[in-house]
Amino acid sequence: MTELKNDRYLRALLKEPVDRTPVWMMRQAGRYLPEYRATRAEAGDFMSLCKNAELACEVTMQPLRRYPLDAAILFSDILTIPDAMGLGLYFETGEGPRFSNPIKTKADIDKLPIPDPEGELQYVMNAVRTIRKELNGSVPLIGFSGSPWTLATYMVEGSGTKTFSKVKGMMYSEPKMMHQLLDKVADSVTSYLNAQIAAGAQSVMIFDTWGGVLTPRDYKEFSLNYMQKIVDGLTRENEGRKVPVTLFTKNGGQWLEQMAETGADALGLDWTMNIAEAKRRVGDKVALQGNMDPAMLYATPERIRQEVKTILADYGDSGTGHVFNLGHGITPDVTPENAGAFINAVVDYSAEYHK
Ligand code: CP3
Repeated sequence: MTELKNDRYLRALLKEPVDRTPVWMMRQAGRYLPEYRATRAEAGDFMSLCKNAELACEVTMQPLRRYPLDAAILFSDILTIPDAMGLGLYFETGEGPRFSNPIKTKADIDKLPIPDPEGELQYVMNAVRTIRKELNGSVPLIGFSGSPWTLATYMVEGSGTKTFSKVKGMMYSEPKMMHQLLDKVADSVTSYLNAQIAAGAQSVMIFDTWGGVLTPRDYKEFSLNYMQKIVDGLTRENEGRKVPVTLFTKNGGQWLEQMAETGADALGLDWTMNIAEAKRRVGDKVALQGNMDPAMLYATPERIRQEVKTILADYGDSGTGHVFNLGHGITPDVTPENAGAFINAVVDYSAEYHK
């Protein structure tokens, strides 16, 4: 394997010293880039783009050509697993993801297979292998999955939701059934992430987009426990290097200590908690990734730069253990110029915190 030329991101996740704070953006390959929209049009629909290794690699590389990013993220989606379990994923234009066969009964759960990552999901592993080759050691590649709870919300609701009525209805009235579902999904995620690592992902991130809608008791029981199961089952070293794991629960600020207890290397932070407070609470147990409000990218470049400086100062004197990112994904109507102002500001202003 080619040697990694820029390993700031991996080093920061392991709290090792770096020359400046590494930066990448959640959803950095996406519709805010005209070149993404062109490739997406060429592919037809979103899933065809995910299933074409050459085109998935192309859109992964697009933001790296524009900006001095310190990591690439696999172009795919968290919903590939439920799709491979037979739920029939499709995207309704402008309406987000949908499943034709959502989970309704215990019988639906009993018959769910654990997908073979080099079978039904081989297109994802092929994308990982193609991207690693194309990156040629320039920056590390991040693999990812959804958390079991987050995947279960889509699998039971059959789409996005504002009320979580079906999935919470099942959780509260049929907790055993919910655990059976989460357990199967956790096993699927573990084998999927390990296959991404074997195929060349140098770090993995678990997106728990919907853990933050749970009560503290239910968060532990229905979301965190299953992320713990995954962390325990992951390959933590490959190609002679550690493979750091990042957990991100959106709206999960109140549970940082518990999340740090899982043995994950890093926690993703949304923008609703000050990063100085988060750092005080987790101590040196984990690195922190975050946490600029993605909506700050609607402000002027000057205001964006000021916010980057504030977050760097909040993180504090030793910038060790910080990966700069947005607190959630970049939105489609942000201008590429403003995204650039954000990334360049991290590059320009963070070195003084690493002397
Ligand atoms: O970060 C990256 O650049 C890598 C790619 C990535 C995508 N989805 C591509 C995508 C990642 C990491 C995801 C994760 C994902 N997908 C999450 C967790 C992170 C989060 O945002 O909370 C969730 C909840 C999903 C499910 C999903 N996929 C939704 C709700 C949607 C529709 C919303 C939207 O933005 O349209 C998708 C589609 C999707 N996934 C798109 C992209 C670029 C847009 C599809 C398009 O091109 O039309």
